[in-house]
Amino acid sequence: METRVEIADFEDWRDIATEAVELLRGGEVVGIPTETVYGLAADAMNAEAVAKVFEVKGRPSFDPLIVHLGGWRDLKRVVEIPDDIEEAVRALTQEFWPGPLTLVLPKKSAVPDAVTAGLPTVAVRVSAHEVMREVAKQIGAVAAPSANRFGKMSPTSASAVVAELGGKIPLVIDGGACREGLESTIIKIEPGEKKPLITVLRPGPVTREELKKFGTVKKAKPISDNRVEAPGQVESHYAPSAQVQIWKKGDVFQPLDGKRYAFLSYRGESELEEAHSWIAKDALSPGGGKLAEAGVRLFHCLRSLDASGPDVIVIEAVSETGVGVAIMDRVRRAAAAK
Ligand code: TXA
Ligand code: MG
Repeated sequence: METRVEIADFEDWRDIATEAVELLRGGEVVGIPTETVYGLAADAMNAEAVAKVFEVKGRPSFDPLIVHLGGWRDLKRVVEIPDDIEEAVRALTQEFWPGPLTLVLPKKSAVPDAVTAGLPTVAVRVSAHEVMREVAKQIGAVAAPSANRFGKMSPTSASAVVAELGGKIPLVIDGGACREGLESTIIKIEPGEKKPLITVLRPGPVTREELKKFGTVKKAKPISDNRVEAPGQVESHYAPSAQVQIWKKGDVFQPLDGKRYAFLSYRGESELEEAHSWIAKDALSPGGGKLAEAGVRLFHCLRSLDASGPDVIVIEAVSETGVGVAIMDRVRRAAAAK
């Protein structure tokens, strides 16, 4: 199959969104930009189309998909909101939607089991990207995991989607580089004694600090413990082809003979810059060092360093505050992959 890439710009993004809608109505899957990472979209209510998503990604069927909605009014069509958390759900969605926050809520029976891997809950969000939002409005509910092969890094550009899934899908909509660059924050909400209890199942662009206003925030569990609650969060996610090694200031770096190393520093000013003859080098946030910029660039930098064919990519650790928590979550998963 030939994969067409259509550029969605200011003038014609609506026409291109309509083209995607037609393919989705025909049961096809399409690569669509969101503000976090590119998604591989299917009509969430069409179990056969959803099966195609799993097939194209090589994704195991126990790993549930995120459903994208056109707006919070669509919520009640796919989920049953328990009375005791309704207020919290309203407050959170009003604050963060459209945007990179995904809520796990009890599903309505209309949502096919294939979407939720048989779980009684479904993960939902409203994307802030106009193309995904428009497509979701027209289709009603769009299931879209990240548009990468299973276990690989999420694509943050249309060319990365083509590199991952080219030849397997009919269309990729090119909406440019993703403005967040990291997958959405996923939370679960439970009633608490005074305030609702918010559990972060996957850290992301919406930070713990931002969530605190809405309840008591429980930390994301260590990656090896959270298989049951976030079944897709297996350690081997987010992996480039090269092995990943984490380095922080003060650590001794001991390269092995005959191995080719690439280096991804935080600011481009690390003591390790000149300490080794790297086959390739980049910085997450050259100059000032901003965590938000590091988040946007993480997968992009890893992909481009990986393309130079190193055996190992050494990544400088960033501080685990704000979006740094999500960055280090992805870096650790990449490092755990081999
Ligand atoms: O930013 C994002 O969330 C991107 C864009 C495309 O929206 N999507 C994304 O989807 O990252 P995906 O499939 O790569 O990751 C979704 C993860 C699953 O791996 C699983 O861990 C979690 O969401 N998930 C989905 N449904 C769940 C549920 N019912 N309960 C717990 N976790 C769930
Ligand atoms: Mg993914």
